[in-house]
This record gives sequence, structure tokens and C-alpha cells, in this order.
Amino acid sequence: MTTETTQTTKRAIEEYFPIVEINRLAVPERNAFKPIYQMHKWFARRASCVFRAILLGAMKPAGTDIMEEFYKDHTNDPDTKGKVILDPFMGGGTTVVEALRLGCKVIGIDLNPVAWFIVKTEVEPVDIDALKDAFERLANRRVEWSGKSVRETLLERYKTECPCCGAGREDADVIYTFWVKSAICTSPNCKRQVPLFSDYVISQKSPSIRYWRDALCPKCGKSFDWEVEPATLIAEPTLMVNNPLEAAGAGRGNKRWAYAPRPPVRCPWCRQEVTPQPREPKPLRKKVDLTVLLCPFCEAVWQYRGTPPGRVACPVCRGEYSVVAERRVGYYDSKRMKFVCSCGTVAGVLESVRKWLREDELLPIRPYAVEGWCPRCGGDSEDEEEGEEDLFGEKKRRRGKKREPDHACLLTKNGGKFFKRITALDLARYQQACQTWEHEKARLPYPKSKVPWGEKTKSGLIAHNYRYWHQMFNPRQLLCLSTLLKDIDGELDETLKEMMLSAFNTALNNSNMFSRYHRFSYREGKIEGVFSRHDFQPKTTICEGNVWGTKDGYGAFRQCSQKVIEGKEFAVAPSDSGRVEGARRSARDPVRGEWELRAETATTLHVIDAVDFVVTDPPYAGNVNYAELTDFFYVWLRLILADKYASFAPEETPKAEEIIENPTRGKTGEDFEQGLTAVFRECHRVLKDDGLLVFTFHHSEERAWEALLRAVCNAGFEIITVFPIHGEAETSMHLMGTEGIAYDLIHVCRKRDQQATIETRSWAGIRQEVRRNARQEIERIEGGRYGREPLSPADVRIILIGKCLELYSRHYGAVVDHEGKEVELGTALEEIRMMVDQLVTREQPLPPELQDIDAPSYIYLTALCGQREIKGDDVHKATRGVMEIDVLRNAGLIIKGRTGRGRTYEVRSPRERYNELCEKFGDAGAPVQSTLFGEEVSRNRGRVLFIDKMHLLMGIAEGGENLMPWLQRFRGDAPQIKVACEYLSERRRDWVPALKKILNLMDLGPLFRSER
Ligand SMILES: C[S@@+](CC[C@H](N)C(=O)[O-])C[C@H]1O[C@@H](n2cnc3c(N)ncnc32)[C@H](O)[C@@H]1O
Ligand SMILES: [Zn+2]
Ligand SMILES: [Zn+2]
Ligand SMILES: [Zn+2]
Ligand SMILES: [Zn+2]
Ligand SMILES: [Zn+2]
Repeated sequence: MTTETTQTTKRAIEEYFPIVEINRLAVPERNAFKPIYQMHKWFARRASCVFRAILLGAMKPAGTDIMEEFYKDHTNDPDTKGKVILDPFMGGGTTVVEALRLGCKVIGIDLNPVAWFIVKTEVEPVDIDALKDAFERLANRRVEWSGKSVRETLLERYKTECPCCGAGREDADVIYTFWVKSAICTSPNCKRQVPLFSDYVISQKSPSIRYWRDALCPKCGKSFDWEVEPATLIAEPTLMVNNPLEAAGAGRGNKRWAYAPRPPVRCPWCRQEVTPQPREPKPLRKKVDLTVLLCPFCEAVWQYRGTPPGRVACPVCRGEYSVVAERRVGYYDSKRMKFVCSCGTVAGVLESVRKWLREDELLPIRPYAVEGWCPRCGGDSEDEEEGEEDLFGEKKRRRGKKREPDHACLLTKNGGKFFKRITALDLARYQQACQTWEHEKARLPYPKSKVPWGEKTKSGLIAHNYRYWHQMFNPRQLLCLSTLLKDIDGELDETLKEMMLSAFNTALNNSNMFSRYHRFSYREGKIEGVFSRHDFQPKTTICEGNVWGTKDGYGAFRQCSQKVIEGKEFAVAPSDSGRVEGARRSARDPVRGEWELRAETATTLHVIDAVDFVVTDPPYAGNVNYAELTDFFYVWLRLILADKYASFAPEETPKAEEIIENPTRGKTGEDFEQGLTAVFRECHRVLKDDGLLVFTFHHSEERAWEALLRAVCNAGFEIITVFPIHGEAETSMHLMGTEGIAYDLIHVCRKRDQQATIETRSWAGIRQEVRRNARQEIERIEGGRYGREPLSPADVRIILIGKCLELYSRHYGAVVDHEGKEVELGTALEEIRMMVDQLVTREQPLPPELQDIDAPSYIYLTALCGQREIKGDDVHKATRGVMEIDVLRNAGLIIKGRTGRGRTYEVRSPRERYNELCEKFGDAGAPVQSTLFGEEVSRNRGRVLFIDKMHLLMGIAEGGENLMPWLQRFRGDAPQIKVACEYLSERRRDWVPALKKILNLMDLGPLFRSER
């Protein structure tokens, strides 16, 4: 065995990564990111445990138990302290933060100024008490136009009457206002506004209430559930309707029930006021299904208890309607993405926009309900969270004596929260905010720039007439946000100001007219910001949050500020806790160390120090349009930061240098690959010779992965190994490949030894070695390398593919086939996948002589040759994710089927392929084509497959032409050709004569016999 890398120390991650353990930690982490990563909204954030493990694995010598290190304190660890880590695509800053926690010196780069700003606020030290004071200062700062504090001013824009106790006083807070957009019917005779509801459900919850099970009525002797807590989301008893058959609650069937907090209670059987006798020693709990509904006719907001039937009747106007959609008023068909007008017209929302609206005019919207909070009805529930000091929690009140509820009512159990219809007062208050905005906007900071044309903006925003960024907000939101921003700008301490700005930034995600309300999911009752999707899709129903935020809201400035505080607290005293082997352990490295952050393109690195390790997460093709999406934040941030930082001076985020696939901006897959190559080249330049490049890549598409691998190799790296990371259920992991299985792959790379690529290496030879390595790896895996639980087959495949890539990439550029042509990465990858597939499934469907043929030929021989037509699904199965169907089509082996429904393919016969094969191979007597036509042949006519040679020979044999010159030319493949003839003869009787001819000739000619 050679030792080419004698001076370099092998690192732990080159040999092993704790896949199983890290997967286990990553799943919960992705659902709840560490506080420091919750300080801001960022896209496609990575689980930090993955990066902590990568960093440790890179810095620790081979053989180190990474999970053992994972929970250690690395404050004075010589292996990590002061090591220089570079992340050229830092995004939300996972590498930067985790490396700082290990005491490294970090250089973080991102083209995107928003990313830069976010990471800066994550790592910049700040005095927590000073920060809390700054937020409090902000809350109390006097707003010029209102003469009141910021907190009061903003809260006053969202006040409403409490439907229980508040007649005549608007002193309850609006948590959420519900809006609906309308389309204008495209029929010129109608032009009616069609509210784009696809159903009339406002909210659906199942509160748990206390009750006496089967309490006995002393009057009539019958039993019923005596509920001592109210089950309700609204205040008005007249608006509550019960399912007559099953409204008793979960597991209570059609039991009768009655509510009274204390006796007497009206017996649901005899209707008398009684004091029932409990049968249980204490009250139990049960869940009750409640649905808050809107009436499409009179706009009442009412409540249904139990499962709502398909059709319901409004308790106010008695109108009957279907919960899902009501034809009589028109509705939005979300499946077809069309609206249906009561006149019968069916059309797309965009058609309505194009037909009736001016260039920057938006479709009409109107509010239809609010969710509010009344502290008085909520009673002392304010004290429930005692100790959990909320930043703006009414501290003074809490310090005083415990506040008694001044009345116990139906809403108390629900914490004082209620749903109700929109009233004239609510509308008036909104209108007033709009007027104030018109009056004040000249003096307030808000973005005035136009939305640039882009991949995400053209269809989401511009097509719907959102031409300016500020159109994504309603005037009340603009008034509150710009007032808030102006007062944040009033802070004198720059660091504190930026921390507050980051809270503002995140609040923007929720305070706009592209936010929605979660009705059913696990986040039920919370607002979902515009970037819960990675686009600007306009919404048909909208949820407007209270910008400042109430005690119960979610994602408002108040909560975002709290997140910033918690994030900074974490930075000082962090922890990663996780269950390992039954015990809870945690890592507690604070964020410290030196850092340098730059908002610029990484295609040219201004890095002075030699870098020990590059650890990063490169962009993935066109997956997330960072530059376009972050303009939404950028246009606000720059109002404050433009004068201070050059990167915030332009009107929009930099787009030209972004590494991405973006058709609208004319950026192709090739540009993407070139960009990555440029950055990796720079990484190569600044990286120490024995340093490592380690990066994750979100793998869901073969093409993008191939481009990435090529970029790494072309930049001068070899791929040492690849590890899979995923957080999905094992069951979805069975098939690897084209069907949208998303992986994060960790790639470990080293600088390639230039010596290794001077001499060419034969692919056939490498392949044998590769197979041997892969077999060894399988043995190691089976020997328990990754613990007792078996890895999923898909994981095993990826590890093996990584192993196989190692050898290929070490000799990258010098690997040639038997004709002396370079074996490109795509081809090598395809064959590697096939080889791995054979090894994993332990199938030996082909004779050993044919084991090394190219992948399309392999698929052809194992799955296609026996049939004339094959279903798309079967082709998929046959390719096993080794390649995409298109590879077989482009190779001319199959064509789309002509008949039948569903997708089928026809398998082409040698005769059908004959003409094009003749053209592909040219003249038999000519020397090997690659030298004759050079590159051109292979580019124009595709690469030559083994099966092409077979088909050509068979075609010639069938046509009775002279086979000899061809056999002569293919003599290097004689052993395989012979075996393939025998193999095919067994599968296709009709081909036997032609195959016989070939075999006979081969037996005759001594020429063909003894190659190899
Ligand atoms: C996949 S993200 C990184 C995500 C990050 N690891 C995280 O956890 O949030 C890739 C980043 O590459 C950045 N990027 C794109 N082109 C770039 C370039 N030419 N130079 C530097 N950064 C670039 C994007 O702005 C984006 O933030
Ligand atoms: Zn009230
Ligand atoms: Zn009774
Ligand atoms: Zn009604
Ligand atoms: Zn109509
Ligand atoms: Zn009340």
C-alpha cells in the first residue's frame, strides 16, 4: 500500500461520522432551533448539531469518538482553539456560531447583506441587561404623531370591544384580524366581487375541560356529564350551536351534558335546576371539538360544538350553507386554483387582475373577523406564567398584589381570548389608522422602491400587481412598522440598535398581508409568516397580526424581541441537550473567539490567514432564491443601515453574482456549476495543504449533485467520503434517487495530490479497486461500525457511493476508458451507483464478464431486452435510482410509447436502431473514432455504450452484411460480446439466428479468441 499522504494527519471525519446519533439529535432540533438561531427568520436553516459534529470531526484526529467530544467543554481544547475556519456561504450563520463555540477563529462570508447582518447580530457580544433596558426604552419612547409611548401608540391601533364585558369600551386587544381577498367576476355582465373563501372555518380547536362524569340527577335519576368549565372560543351563548348527536366530547359518545361552574345546573333530561351527585371522586378532563364559523350571508361569527355536518345553519340569519364552500356567494376552488362566481363563471384570480385592474391596483380585501384578548375576562390567568418573565410583560402589575379577576365568565377558561365578527367600530379604527398613515407617511421611514423583476417576484408579486414592496402591507401595518422603525433608529448605542433592528426584521415576516392563520396543524392558532413558503405566493385569506403584540399573540415585535434576548442569553450560556444512551447530556460552550464577517461574493476571497478548515453549506441550484426573497427584509433594513454600511447602500440585494439557477435572470445550471467551482478554487487557494473542505449539500436532484461534485473536483479537491444525514422516517427512505427523497449529504474533501493525476489511470482498473473498497466498507458496516441498529439501505448506498468516489476523484481528469477517452464524472457516477446497487442487493443477474459494462447497457440487459413495451413505473424500478429514465431515452434504447393510457415506453429493437448506430460508429475500417473525429464525435453522437456495439453487430448480422471488420474493431470487447450473445439468446428466441452468426464468426477467427 502506498502512503502518498505521509505528512498529513488523518482527521476523525475522514473515517467516520456518527450518522445515527446526529440524525437522532437533528430531528428534534429542526422542529425547535436553538434560541440563537431563532433570533431571525432565515431560509432552510440547518440543524446546528450537524455542524458541531462536523467541526469536531474535522479538528480532532482520526479515531476520536465524536459523540464523546460532542458534550465536552472545549474552552481550552488545543485541537479547536484558534483554528481558522472559513465559511464562504454562511447564510444564517450555523457554521460561524458553532465554530465560535469551539473557540475557533472564524471567517464568514455571504454575498447577501441580510445574511451578513443576521450573523453579525448573532455573534456580536452585548450586555443583556443593557439590551433589555434598550427595549424598554424603546417601548416608552414618545411617538411624535401620537404624543404617547411607542407601546401604547402601536397597541391602540388594534383595540376592540370585548364581546363579554366591554360594551361601549374598546379596551380589548385585537390579536389577529382576518381578511379575505375578493376576485372580480370576469364576466362583463356580472363583475361581482367573489370573496375567495374555500371554506368558512375560522378556527378549530379542542380545549380540554373539567367535568363530573355521569353525575346523577336527584330529580329524574338520570345521569349526564356535568361540565364545570366552559368549552368555548366565543363569548355569546346565542351564537353557540351544538351537534345534536355528538357534542359531549372525545370518548363521550352521545352522552347528554350541561355546563355550570357550580350548582345548580339545569338537568338535560328533566330540565330542572338541580345539584347533581358526582359518581367519581374528582372531576375528570375531556376534549371538546369546537369550530368557529363565518356565515357567508350575514357575516356572523359563530361556534359549532362537535363535528360540523356538511351543511350548517347560521344561528343569526338562519341561512343554510355548506361549510366547505357556498355557490350562492361564490368561492375559491383551491384545488383548481380558480374562483367560482355565483353567476357560474369560473376563472383564475390572475385573469380577474388582468381584466379589471390598473397596473398597480390590488384586488379588494376586507376584514371579516377578529381574535381578541380581554385581560379583564382572562382574569388572573396573567399570573399563570409567573417567573417566566416576558420582556414587555406588565412588570409593574405583576409586582403588585395578585390581580383578582373582576368576574369569572365564559372566556376566563380560554385566557380571555375570543373570536368575534368585525364591527363598525373595528372598521372605523382601521380607517383612522389609514388616515393617520396618509397624514404621517412623508415623515416616516418605509420602503418606496419597486419590486425588481425576478423568478419569484414576477409570478408571486408582479403578476398580481404588487409593484412596490410597501404594497405587501396594509396602511395600518405601515403606520405601526414605520413608527417602530423610526424609534428604533432613535437608539444611540449602535450595537443595541442593531439588535432591536433584528427583532424588527423578524417581525416583518409576520406583519404583512401575505401571512396566514394556522387553523388545524400542530401550530394551530398561530400566525404563519410570508416565508413559511419560499416564495411570494399571494394569499386568498390573510391574517393580520397585532404589530406590537399582546400577551397571547405569536410572532409580533414583542415576541421577536423576546427571541433576540433569549438568543443573546444562549450565546453567553448555551446548551445542547440530548438523550444519549438513556442519559441527558449537554454541551455548554459559549459563543466566543474571533470573527470576521464579510458581505461580498466568495468568488474572490480577501482572506489573509491561511485557513485550517473550510466548513460550509453551498447554495443548491435553484432551491431557494435567497437574493430575491431577502429583498423583502433588505428594503426595510437599508432605511437604517444604508449610510452606515456600503453593502446596504444599493436599492436591492446583489443579484448578478449570486450562485444559483435562475431562468429569469438567465442563470443556467452551467452558471451555477461555474460559480461553485470559482468559490471552491478560492477555498483551495487559501486552505492549508493538509486542511479539509467539508460541506453539506441538500440532495434531492441528481443533476445538481453532479454539478456540485464536478465543481469540487475541478477546483482541485478529491472527495474522501460522503455521509448521509436526514431527519425523515426510515420508511420513506427505501428508494434512493429521483423520487424526491431529500438528503443532506456531508462531503469530506482534501486537496488533490497533483502527482496522482499526472499519469492516466484506466477506469476498468479503478473500478476493480473501487469494488474491493466498497466490499470492505460493507463488511465494516455490517460489523457494527454505525452501531447496533442497521442503517437504512439508502444510507448504506450513499456511504458506498462516497467510498467509490474517493478513488475516482483522486485521479480526477486522468481516468480514461479503453479508448483512451476521459471518463466523465456523470458516467463514473452512474456506473458507481450501479455497482453499489449490485453490491447492496447482492444480485448477480449478469454473468461476471458483464459486470463492468456501462449502466444503460446493464439496465437494458437486466430489465429491458426481454420485452417490447414497458410501463414507466417498471422502468423506474429497473433503474433503481441509478439513473433517470431520460438517460435511456437519450441513448436511444427506449422511446415514449404510442398506445394506451398512462406512461409506457417501447423498447427499440436492434433493427430499429440500425441506421443511427451506423452513423454513430461511422466506417468500420476507420480507426477508433475518438482519434479521427476527436471530441466532436462523442459530443454530437453521445457516448458509445456496450449495448450499441451489440445492437450494431446484430443489425449487420440480420441484414446479411459483412461482420468481420466490425468484430475486428470491437475485438477488445470480444469476451463480453460472446457472453452477451449467449445471454441474449436465452431471452430472445427471435434474435437467435443473428446472435448465432456472430458467435460462429467469433469462434472461427483466432483473432477474437484470446484477448485478455
Ligand atoms: C444554503 S445557504 C447557506 C445556509 C446556511 N448554512 C444556514 O444554515 O443558514 C447558501 C448561501 O450562499 C449565499 N451565496 C450565493 N451566492 C454567493 C456568492 N457568490 N458568494 C457568497 N455567498 C453566496 C446565499 O446568499 C446563501 O445565503
Ligand atoms: Zn371582557
Ligand atoms: Zn333530571
Ligand atoms: Zn348568517
Ligand atoms: Zn359572476
Ligand atoms: Zn367576561
